[in-house]
Amino acid sequence: MATIKAAILGFGTVGQGIYHVVNEKRAQLKAKLGVELEIVKILVRDTKNERVPGTAALLTDSIEDVLAVDGLQVVFEAIVDEEPAFTYLKRAVEQRCHVITANKVMFAKRGMELQQLAKTKGVHVGYEATVAGGVPIIKTMKNILLVNDVSRIQGILNGTTNYMLTKMRQENWSYDEALAEAQRLGYAEADPYNDVSGQDAFKKIMVLCDLAFGEQPNWDDVDVIGINTLTTEQLEDAKAKGLRYRHVAEAEKLEDGTIVAKVAPQLVAPDHPLYPIDDVFNAVAMETNYIGTLTVTGPGAGMYPTASVMVEDYAEIIGKRAGFTVSI
Ligand code: NDP
Ligand code: HSE
Repeated sequence: MATIKAAILGFGTVGQGIYHVVNEKRAQLKAKLGVELEIVKILVRDTKNERVPGTAALLTDSIEDVLAVDGLQVVFEAIVDEEPAFTYLKRAVEQRCHVITANKVMFAKRGMELQQLAKTKGVHVGYEATVAGGVPIIKTMKNILLVNDVSRIQGILNGTTNYMLTKMRQENWSYDEALAEAQRLGYAEADPYNDVSGQDAFKKIMVLCDLAFGEQPNWDDVDVIGINTLTTEQLEDAKAKGLRYRHVAEAEKLEDGTIVAKVAPQLVAPDHPLYPIDDVFNAVAMETNYIGTLTVTGPGAGMYPTASVMVEDYAEIIGKRAGFTVSI
């Protein structure tokens, strides 16, 4: 049986999750796809830190080591920031590897470019994990876009801040306690300022704009306000009135074709669709011409939800390459 050689870039929450899912589902993947998946290299900065027992021999701090693997076919990317991630994935695509990324900072800026390049090289780019963790929003949107036009997208796109707002309301945790727990659970970004400032949700809504509208608004025209602007008094007042703060990202294509977007906390009443979305959950509603409003919801961050959709991307790509659709 043929073996697909794959590398993982980054071995934190998401990278380790990919390694675990691949191992736990090895037999199932092999049975469905007819090929073995072997993780042959893992890129980190600190190779002395093994992280997962038994992986020391796979660790390297050199991208050259990774890209030099004979017959490398798939690169999973779970590092942080635009660079060096973009350059690494560009190089991987140039040598005809399929790439699967969770890195929304990189993808919001360079995703279109990476996908164009991949098309010319005949390989695929999986990016389900860049938006809403384990929620299959990218697949859902791709599946309806042939005849449906999306006019508006609205949702909770950050798990960390939704978890924090939930715990501050339900358990009376302080902002710092809630953030520390979100970090411990692996929900927060390496720099959690990205979560609480709204920048993480901003990058995700930009990725969705690319997919739904084929373009993004000018980044300078988008107001981005985080939950770090909310005061204790505002949160207590909302609770007393039976209202809830949700951190909402939205984008809309206007009649004249202009794309507008904003990211900000919003106070919602019990009849609002985002009112019941608690904990680390995300929810995304798409307004379309034929279906009407379509909403998907689920865990928006965390090791297994995120890693599993990356491995689903792998299965879809390898299935496509073999000329079939993977069915479960
Ligand atoms: P972590 O901070 O837990 O892990 C990041 C990993 O990347 C570490 O192993 C680090 O190595 C490695 N790394 C960072 N920069 C470099 C570099 N320049 N070269 C080599 N290795 C590098 O982050 P997460 O796993 O939480 O997130 C990874 C990516 O996935 C991010 O882009 C994030 O936005 C995205 N994401 C995260 C989700 C989550 O729930 N956590 C969900 C969806 C997406 P070392 O340990 O040696 O420093
Ligand atoms: N830090 C991000 C969040 C991870 O909390 O939503 C998922 O992209």
